Amino acid sequence: MIKQIEKYLEEVKNFNSNDLKEIDAFRIKFISKKGILNQLFAEFKNVPNEEKKLFGQKINELKQAATEKVNGLKEAAENNNDEQAGELDLTRPGYPTEIGSRHPISIVKNQIIEIFKRIGFNVSEGPEIEDDWHNFTALNLPEYHPARDMQDTFFLQQNPDWLLRTHTSSVQTRYMEAHQPPIRTISPGRVYRNEDISARSHCIFHQVEGLYIDKGVSFADLKQTLLFFTKEMFGKSKIRLRPSYFPFTEPSAEVDIYWGLETETDYRITKGTGWLEIMGAGMVDPNVLKNMNIDPEEYTGFAFGMGIERIAMLLYQIPDIRMFYENDIRFLKQFESIV
Ligand code: PHE
Repeated sequence: MIKQIEKYLEEVKNFNSNDLKEIDAFRIKFISKKGILNQLFAEFKNVPNEEKKLFGQKINELKQAATEKVNGLKEAAENNNDEQAGELDLTRPGYPTEIGSRHPISIVKNQIIEIFKRIGFNVSEGPEIEDDWHNFTALNLPEYHPARDMQDTFFLQQNPDWLLRTHTSSVQTRYMEAHQPPIRTISPGRVYRNEDISARSHCIFHQVEGLYIDKGVSFADLKQTLLFFTKEMFGKSKIRLRPSYFPFTEPSAEVDIYWGLETETDYRITKGTGWLEIMGAGMVDPNVLKNMNIDPEEYTGFAFGMGIERIAMLLYQIPDIRMFYENDIRFLKQFESIV
């Protein structure tokens, strides 16, 4: 009896086919109601007691082997059939493919780049892990300069001379090292500041900074460039420059645009004044030019820098900066139609 089961086991093991009919015949032979397995189970009561245990084990083994064999072969044969072009229904509608959308940060960044490209600026990039020189010292911020505290910095633990750049002005210093004027470049990128995370500020955000150096560049050039930008970007043609301080520019200014006071939202975001601060700017400090081996007697320049999140929040009325980094699909989907 046991020998017979061993033989069946051997037969199951050796069976192979990719023909569904053959596989089904095999299934009927072994697993169906009148199949071999059921016959063997019926036999069970006639088996002498001392053999019952081994007999039971063997039939179960056979049952498992036959079931696995049938399922495995069936699956393989079906997959195989799917691939045969003859069986394909070419009139069936395709599976819809989800089309992704651009992140609002990328959308706004690209818009800013496009606008400045039209007036001759190129795009420059640099490393996010920076050294002290490019992020601070070269920008007229020597060690112990109190203005270093304006930007809370993440330092690298292994070597405090390395840090996560606090602004993309570091790209401008690298650019000035590598190029002589005339320089017209904008530097978009991610920056880091050790700040508490809230609806208004985050420890990671994005900037676009601009730099223009040539003979005879004046504050009037800066103002007209910014005016051009705000007209193109926001459709607003009134700006004002408020005196301010940055170590790398002199004189320095905060740039406000007149947003208007037409709606309730306008009141809320401008705190009832109609004016919105959108960037910092100024004439490149002669010390910075000297650090970069550019003769300040021969060349002058201007620089500006703005936060992309802030502008995206304004344009799309996004209430909380944290939404940019949560990757919530419901948030991101809203930007599908914009390229
Ligand atoms: N680097 C400044 C900041 O990150 C912005 C700025 C750039 C200001 C250029 C003036 C000129 O805050």
